[in-house]
Amino acid sequence: MFVFTLILSLLSLTIFVLLRSRARRRGRLPPGNLGLPFIGETLQLISAYKTENPEPFIDDRVARYGSVFTTHLFGEPTVFSADPEANRLILQNEGRLFESSYPGSISNLLGRHSLLLMRGSLHKRMHSLTMSFANSAIIRDHLLLDIDRLVRLNMDAWTARVLLMEEAKKITFQLTVKQLMSFDPCEWTENLMKEYMLVIEGFFTIPLPIFSTTYRRAIQARGKVAEALSLVVRERRRETERGETSKNDMLAALLDEQGGGGGFSDEEIVDFMLALLVAGYETTSTIMTLAVKFLTETPLALAQLKDEHEEIRVKRGENEALQWEDYKSMSFTQCVVNETLRVANIISGVFRRAITDVTIKGYTIPKGWKVFASLRGVHMDHHHFKDARIFNPWRWQNSSGATSTISTFNPFGGGPRRCPGAELARVELSVFLHRLVTQFSWEAAEQDKLVFFPTTRTQKRYPISIRRLKRGEAEGES
Ligand SMILES: *[C@@H]1O[C@H](CO)[C@@H](O)[C@H](O)[C@H]1NC(C)=O
Ligand SMILES: *[C@@H]1O[C@H](CO)[C@@H](O)[C@H](O)[C@H]1NC(C)=O
Repeated sequence: MFVFTLILSLLSLTIFVLLRSRARRRGRLPPGNLGLPFIGETLQLISAYKTENPEPFIDDRVARYGSVFTTHLFGEPTVFSADPEANRLILQNEGRLFESSYPGSISNLLGRHSLLLMRGSLHKRMHSLTMSFANSAIIRDHLLLDIDRLVRLNMDAWTARVLLMEEAKKITFQLTVKQLMSFDPCEWTENLMKEYMLVIEGFFTIPLPIFSTTYRRAIQARGKVAEALSLVVRERRRETERGETSKNDMLAALLDEQGGGGGFSDEEIVDFMLALLVAGYETTSTIMTLAVKFLTETPLALAQLKDEHEEIRVKRGENEALQWEDYKSMSFTQCVVNETLRVANIISGVFRRAITDVTIKGYTIPKGWKVFASLRGVHMDHHHFKDARIFNPWRWQNSSGATSTISTFNPFGGGPRRCPGAELARVELSVFLHRLVTQFSWEAAEQDKLVFFPTTRTQKRYPISIRRLKRGEAEGES
């Protein structure tokens, strides 16, 4: 074992020296430290992100080397950028200078045809199809009603103590399934969700995937989810061919020859929907939970938010569905949404690979190198946001929030791969907050800590004690 390790170390050292000297010949690499062979600085990154305050990992390196530096993460030398201009260049030049690149364990679980892994013209087509299905007009005319209905349906069943993260997940899962293929919550969706959670767990077992039972279980669960989805796709395809369906959902858009869809295989559609489930469910439910956590810890902001929603409730009436103009009138809520996105950084950054030698800020990133554009690094930088590490929704009130003029706020990424569901996520969070603050008061039931690895989450799924607000007798509440 010792000899084996020794040989491996020597081998990787040789590769490093070669890589370095090759890179030096071509141009200057960003300064930095490659850490140990193979492991690099991965363990430092992971241990930082397992705490409530991961910032020192980036702070230390930015202080030593500047906002673009070289490190070694998840098995590869990587150029790490916490610089808004460099990030912009990386995100905007998708397909020209960079392409998306994710670890193998993630691509196995997502499937080859997920939006995350697609490239070129197919990606362009799928991305715009997704956009056309999640744009403001569609949300206003179709999705808002379902969002409001499913949020209320779930909250009606809440007991005195809930795990907010679990409840939020249930809501976003139901919403995503509804939007993708028009199924309302039922036994089928419940079962799908159970399998689905196993798949999600598998995503974040990156080290040594072959030996991990979580990962194996995830791959099996993925098979079951894919099977269930392909039954739905096949059935719908038959209906569409017979001209029987009039459903207005993502699946219909994918099958619709006239509307930009059509020509996809069942496997492509299943992979695609599976990946949209990840996107729609995991991230939005986390952002819901964290918004509530931050508000609970910032009573002034919560009070102002309540006032805004109380006004809407009084105007609209308790049991009426929320309208688009109600959403549009939630101006302080949008400050809270932006500030939550900025501080929480659910997607802390994106991985890319240089497809040619790229010059950034006087340095050269050699062709084939991994790049990590850290969105978090910019969002948490005092140069770009005053008192950047404090949750302060008011910073968005008069200005763009940031202190500098270049684009610094990119919670949904940017360029051709910007998250197509950005607006949808905002609306879901806003409606969730509306129904929460107008129906309940709550307090944190336990101390719960925020961590950022393997995903952004609170350790105990944020348990809260809730109380239903009593209204006057006239409104008939007991
Ligand atoms: C925003 O503007 C209002 C009035 O114009 C002012 O009272 C408030 O302090 C400003 N807030 C911030 C965060 O600058
Ligand atoms: C929130 O951020 C978006 C950019 O993602 C911006 O367009 C919008 O104006 C911001 N909202 C507020 C209230 O500042």
